[in-house]
Amino acid sequence: MSSKIKVGILGCTGAVGQKLISLLGNHPLFRVTEVAASDNSAGIKYAGRVNWKESSRIPDSVKELTIKKCSDVLDAELLFSGLDSSAAGGIEDYYAGKGYVVVSNSKNHRMGSDIPLIIPEVNSEHFGLIEKQKEKYNSGGYIVTNPNCSTVVLAVTLFPVYKNFGLKKVLVTTMQAVSGAGYPGISSMDILGNVIPHINDEEEKMQIEPLKIFGKFEDGKIKFADFKISAMCNRVPVRDGHTMSISFETEKRASKDEIISALGSYDNLNLPSSPELVLKYTDDPFRPQPLLDIDTGNGMTVTAGNLRKCGVLEWKINAFGHNTIRGAAGAAILNAEYLIKNNLVK
Ligand SMILES: NC(=O)c1ccc[n+]([C@@H]2O[C@H](COP(=O)([O-])OP(=O)(O)OC[C@H]3O[C@@H](n4cnc5c(N)ncnc54)[C@H](OP(=O)(O)O)[C@@H]3O)[C@@H](O)[C@H]2O)c1
Repeated sequence: MSSKIKVGILGCTGAVGQKLISLLGNHPLFRVTEVAASDNSAGIKYAGRVNWKESSRIPDSVKELTIKKCSDVLDAELLFSGLDSSAAGGIEDYYAGKGYVVVSNSKNHRMGSDIPLIIPEVNSEHFGLIEKQKEKYNSGGYIVTNPNCSTVVLAVTLFPVYKNFGLKKVLVTTMQAVSGAGYPGISSMDILGNVIPHINDEEEKMQIEPLKIFGKFEDGKIKFADFKISAMCNRVPVRDGHTMSISFETEKRASKDEIISALGSYDNLNLPSSPELVLKYTDDPFRPQPLLDIDTGNGMTVTAGNLRKCGVLEWKINAFGHNTIRGAAGAAILNAEYLIKNNLVK
């Protein structure tokens, strides 16, 4: 128990914060020793403040923790951030400056030129950017980020295609779950029986983040991938899991069998949160579906289905992933596990 690394959760009351606490309840490497949120929550015992939405119970070790302010000294080596983006930027900088390793879900730092934006099965070499933060923070602390919840699904699906055949153009239309808007998020009056064809900043994030993630790490910098992405993002009345329809055109010609074989080419990193399959492909035209595929790989597997010819771009495929696990808390924990395994946390 005592050999586990002490971690804190910034934004502990939110949708991502709760998922982090739930996934870390019995983690082999980490134990939650601190929880922090806004000044409105600070000073209150966790169980007395949080509106717990996870199906598992609040871990006993966290229930009685008193919520701290996001300016307090925290008894932890590594901080997971599920902070609202209105506050995340400054708070994450502050803690990195104080020597903490900050593993963030928020958008604020993702595109920083010295900030790794990581899916470890895709671009772990980008962790090399941590070195660039040494001068800035001069504390031993640094920030690493995981992508937007829809970006993860798109990037995990397309990376094997990009790596093997190159990409010229991508069109993606998303159907995104309500938990992606946090808690309490969108009102039931607005979403039940409805589709909302706009999510603030989401299209922009999906159009740029994959280009950084697929970029080459050369001379201490990321050289972004060079292809075009057009994203259209919709909020739909699904609780968890983002579904998307993707069309793409490759640089090199490839057959359906070659693409399917590439989709199965991910290596398993064998970290505690690694799923057996990073990407699971099925030819079934009725898959993936949120109700059927949400738990695949404990929420860490991206599922894809029905690769077929497209009359406009060359190919189209359906994809799906758990937005608060592979798209947020699980992704952050996987990044932190990678940091530990590779001795990047002192
Ligand atoms: N939901 C998803 O699927 C998802 C996926 C990927 C990334 N993200 C990103 O992850 C972050 C958290 O998302 P979420 O869905 O969990 O949001 P959320 O449910 O709205 O939770 C936000 C958290 O931030 C805290 N907070 C708000 N203002 C603060 C302040 N001024 N100082 C300190 N803490 C403050 C809140 O604490 P109080 O309760 O005290 O206000 C709460 O704990 C966001 O940046 C979001 O974009 C979310």
